[in-house]
This record gives sequence, structure tokens and C-alpha cells, in this order.
Amino acid sequence: MTNILILGGTTEARQLAGKLAARADLAVTLSLAGRTESPIAQGVPVRVGGFGGAQGLAAYLKETGTALLIDATHPYAARISANAAEAARQAGVPILALRRPGWQPVAGDRWTLVDSVAEAASALGTAPRRVFLAIGRQEAGAFEAASQHHYLIRSVDPVEPKLTLPDAIYLLARGPFPETEERALLEKHGIDAIVSKNSGGEATYGKIAAARALGIEVIMVRRPSVPDVSSAETVDQLAAKVDHLFEPVAERGV
Ligand SMILES: NC(=O)c1ccc[n+]([C@@H]2O[C@H](COP(=O)([O-])OP(=O)(O)OC[C@H]3O[C@@H](n4cnc5c(N)ncnc54)[C@H](OP(=O)(O)O)[C@@H]3O)[C@@H](O)[C@H]2O)c1
Repeated sequence: MTNILILGGTTEARQLAGKLAARADLAVTLSLAGRTESPIAQGVPVRVGGFGGAQGLAAYLKETGTALLIDATHPYAARISANAAEAARQAGVPILALRRPGWQPVAGDRWTLVDSVAEAASALGTAPRRVFLAIGRQEAGAFEAASQHHYLIRSVDPVEPKLTLPDAIYLLARGPFPETEERALLEKHGIDAIVSKNSGGEATYGKIAAARALGIEVIMVRRPSVPDVSSAETVDQLAAKVDHLFEPVAERGV
């Protein structure tokens, strides 16, 4: 058996794990950070929690005899991606990354590009606005510095403790979020600015398309830089790279 560790926390990581697990000769483990309280079933063995930096991950790779590390984390999870590249180097294990391409602005989009969530908070300006925060809960605290705005804050898990914002509505939801529903949400709350990460993919693009249709500004936080390792843009392309490294023997159950 060939042991493969997938660093996950994304839909693609789950899909890739399922695809690779269909091969009888691969033993796939999926790793989650443990941020989400009730993660959806992943369909393969899962381990949860940090490794203790690059060194900890390198030690894990050696202890478990992992033959391939796959970084399929979210494009904004920059620390684990850096750790993965360094750990693979230290442990002498090959690494592949699944790097979902970012969205590109098209005609009609009103994007303001910023380098960080903190910069997004100041880019909203001084006059009160009605803001849809769609960046997850971890960095929502940065908007306490811009408490003059009304906020609609959407996250998978509750923002705890609640932010010191006088005018905020919290919405718990897990994607995918279709454009028609996003449009209805923006209209219902009279939103005039959206703060978003450039996540790429279809599941969360609905708000971007809806913003375009409604002429709403999107404050887009640029992607952090990640290490330059061998990568693929889609689950199928990455699975093909794995097949190239470890030629399939047979499908499970065949
Ligand atoms: N950032 C986002 O916008 C976003 C959005 C959707 C999903 N996610 C997912 O949420 C998780 C955490 O994201 P983040 O932005 O907090 O990451 P991060 O800042 O890059 O990572 C912080 C620390 O969390 C641990 N960690 C992160 N991902 C891990 C994984 N898959 N398995 C085991 N440990 C992991 C590592 O701890 P140690 O150093 O102790 O190993 C890492 O140093 C990731 O799995 C990511 O794919 C993030």
C-alpha cells in the first residue's frame, strides 16, 4: 500500500480523497485543522488538528511512511501551505498541490483590490454602509475597527464571542450559494458593499455574479503567496499526476 496524506478543509480535498481512495493500492488519509465544529463526512480516514509546524508535519510524514503529500488546502490557508512545502523537503517526500484558480474580474464587476482583511475594513470608507462580510469567521474581528457600518456576517460556524459591533446580523450557512439566492439576500438586506476573498471555484461565485448584476462594489482581498510546488488546478488533473507517480494496479473491488 502507498500512504498518501491530503491536507484538506476544502470541497476539492474531499473529492480528491474519494477519487484516490477508489484505488486499491492507495491508503489515503485526510487531514483537517479542526476549525469546523461539525465537518461534513469525508469518506476516508481523517486525522484532525495541527501538526506543530513544518517540523511536526515532517515527523508525521516519516512516522506514517507517507509516500506523497498533497496540499489541497484553501488558497488563503497560507501557513499550512508553507509548512507543507518545507515539511516535504525535510522528510524527502514528494509534494503536489491542488491550486484552484482565482476569479478574474469581467465587464460590469466593481472590484476594489486590497491586500488584507484589515485593509478591506478601511477601504469601506468613513460613511456608514451596509456590508456583507463573506470572509469566514476567523478574521471578522478586523471590522471592529470600522464599527460605523451595518454588517451581515455569514459563516459556517458561529462567530464567538460576538463582535463589538453595534449593528450586525449573523447568518450561519454552508455553501454552495447559487446566484439567485445570493441576489435575494443582497436585496433583502440592502447591501451596498461585499467583502470577499478570491476563493475561486463555483460554490461561492454566486455573490460575485449577483454583485455584478446589482452594481454592488466588491472589496476583494488578494490571495496570499504560496510556495511554488508542482500543482494542478482541478481534482481530475491532480489525480492524473498521482496516477503518473504511482501507476494504478486495480480499482478497489475489481
Ligand atoms: N483561510 C480560509 O479562508 C479558509 C477557508 C475555507 C477553508 N479553510 C480551511 O481551514 C483550515 C484552516 O485554515 P487557516 O487559514 O486557519 O490555515 P493556516 O493559517 O494556513 O494554518 C494555521 C495552522 O493550522 C493548522 N492547519 C491548517 N490546515 C490544516 C490541515 N488541513 N490539517 C492539519 N492542520 C492544519 C496548522 O497548524 P500546525 O502548524 O500546528 O500544523 C497551521 O499552521 C485549512 O484546512 C483550510 O483548508 C480555510
